[in-house]
Amino acid sequence: MAIQLGDVAPDFTADTTEGSVSLHEYLGDGWGILFSHPADFTPVCTTELGAFATRKDEFTKRNAKIIGVSVDTVESHNGWSADIAETQGTALNYPLIGDPERTVANLYGMIHPNAIATATVRTVFVIAPDKTVRLTLTYPASVGRNIDEILRVLDALQLGAEFPVSTPVDWTDGSDVIISPAINDEDANEKFPKGFTTLKPYLRLTPQPNR
Ligand code: BEZ
Repeated sequence: MAIQLGDVAPDFTADTTEGSVSLHEYLGDGWGILFSHPADFTPVCTTELGAFATRKDEFTKRNAKIIGVSVDTVESHNGWSADIAETQGTALNYPLIGDPERTVANLYGMIHPNAIATATVRTVFVIAPDKTVRLTLTYPASVGRNIDEILRVLDALQLGAEFPVSTPVDWTDGSDVIISPAINDEDANEKFPKGFTTLKPYLRLTPQPNR
């Protein structure tokens, strides 16, 4: 069965461009982004993996580690890294799993045979410090992902882990958030000293509490 939100992210040990990596150990007590791409030496993937490398600091700032996977070999990844550096400005600077046996790809259901039979599609798994999966994304080979969206979701998940809030449509870091309907007004006054606006009893907005 496909991995669902709330499931424990399956652990594995795999060969990567940074040596053997065990997922849970690698993530430690921080957040994790496990993502797959279809193939090395392909155009969209080159832009995506370059962007993850260029923006790695933004994940680190959020206490999140990134790790990629495809069914190519580690040797292939290492060769491709020079092209990524040349065309995107930054070489691979995070572990990229070589998975020619498809062990990780099958464990995470990253191969969608009716889309691409022989390679992983573009998946993203956001993993919380307790190792549960908090978000999954699946994109086709023809559409590159949006790093801003992955960071935005990470911000929202981390905020929700710290405060009883959720984030409205198109929320970005710094905007108002929604107070959990499970919190009554009295408790909301205490927890959110900046105050809140009640649009409906179930829809109360408050300034982002960690700002
Ligand atoms: C790409 O990265 O451009 C790509 C990879 C695999 C299939 C199709 C496109």
